[in-house]
Amino acid sequence: MIEIRVEGAGFEYPDGTCALKRVDLVIPPSSTVALAGPNGAGKTTLARLLNGLLVPTRGRVLLAGTDTAKVPASRVAAQVGYVFQNPRRQVFASTIAEEVAFGPRNLGRTESEVDQAVRSALEDLDLTLRAEAHPYELSQSELRRVALASVLSMQSPVLILDEPTASLDGADHERLLRVLAGLRRRKATILVITHDMDFVAEECERMLILRDGRVAADGPPGEVFAAGPGAGLEPPSIWRMSRALDRPGICRGADLLESLRPGSGA
Ligand SMILES: Nc1ncnc2c1ncn2[C@@H]1O[C@H](COP(=O)(O)OP(=O)(O)OP(=O)(O)O)[C@@H](O)[C@H]1O
Ligand SMILES: [Mg+2]
Repeated sequence: MIEIRVEGAGFEYPDGTCALKRVDLVIPPSSTVALAGPNGAGKTTLARLLNGLLVPTRGRVLLAGTDTAKVPASRVAAQVGYVFQNPRRQVFASTIAEEVAFGPRNLGRTESEVDQAVRSALEDLDLTLRAEAHPYELSQSELRRVALASVLSMQSPVLILDEPTASLDGADHERLLRVLAGLRRRKATILVITHDMDFVAEECERMLILRDGRVAADGPPGEVFAAGPGAGLEPPSIWRMSRALDRPGICRGADLLESLRPGSGA
């Protein structure tokens, strides 16, 4: 179980671009949190700080109390898996099976543990029959699934998914929901960077909005939407429908249905 604590963290790229001004944040273990905000707000940069690909140029990132700047990046990456926004930048091995095995093997797992982790991650993403395919033969959908499988196979306590909902078809959406349900069952912490407010409303207990390198809003999605559309975000359809039906503040379809049942007291 890993608590994520970000204390006054800022980040400047070597060319002088200030991507994060000051971020203070605590994410307790086992939560599902959405990270939203306009393009260029610093979402991907924050993800890279949490996963140890970058260290803050100001302030600190603590994972279970340990400063990420003081331990090897590989140790941070073992705790916080990060699925890249662009899978082509992530995937490099010559077969899918090798790609998915790389992470757990690198963590020093035994070969039978690696086999088991690979089998289960491929199965979760319906890639078993494609195990020997070369990543360059894959469709965009398959490539994204490989990127996700290769992080799932590390079984890290924290996972960051960078825009997993962008241009998904129905089957991929279902697969993503199934993977998230599995992660919740094993009490992983999930941080999802997304512009899809319907997804946030249904799946996330908390929502952060990053704007201009700072946290502009933080709370349960219903409260964040109620505070105003902020950051140009379109409130989710269920939330708008609930308001029109005089049941304001409801974010999830099942909760709205429940509130509309005769005798529900509303
Ligand atoms: N490698 C880099 N070198 C210099 N500047 C960068 C680099 N990567 C990102 N930036 C800049 O840092 C700022 C934050 O970028 P970041 O990618 O973190 O935003 P984002 O919220 O993920 O945006 P998007 O929604 O477009 O993915 C932007 O101004 C971006 O141009
Ligand atoms: Mg990004």
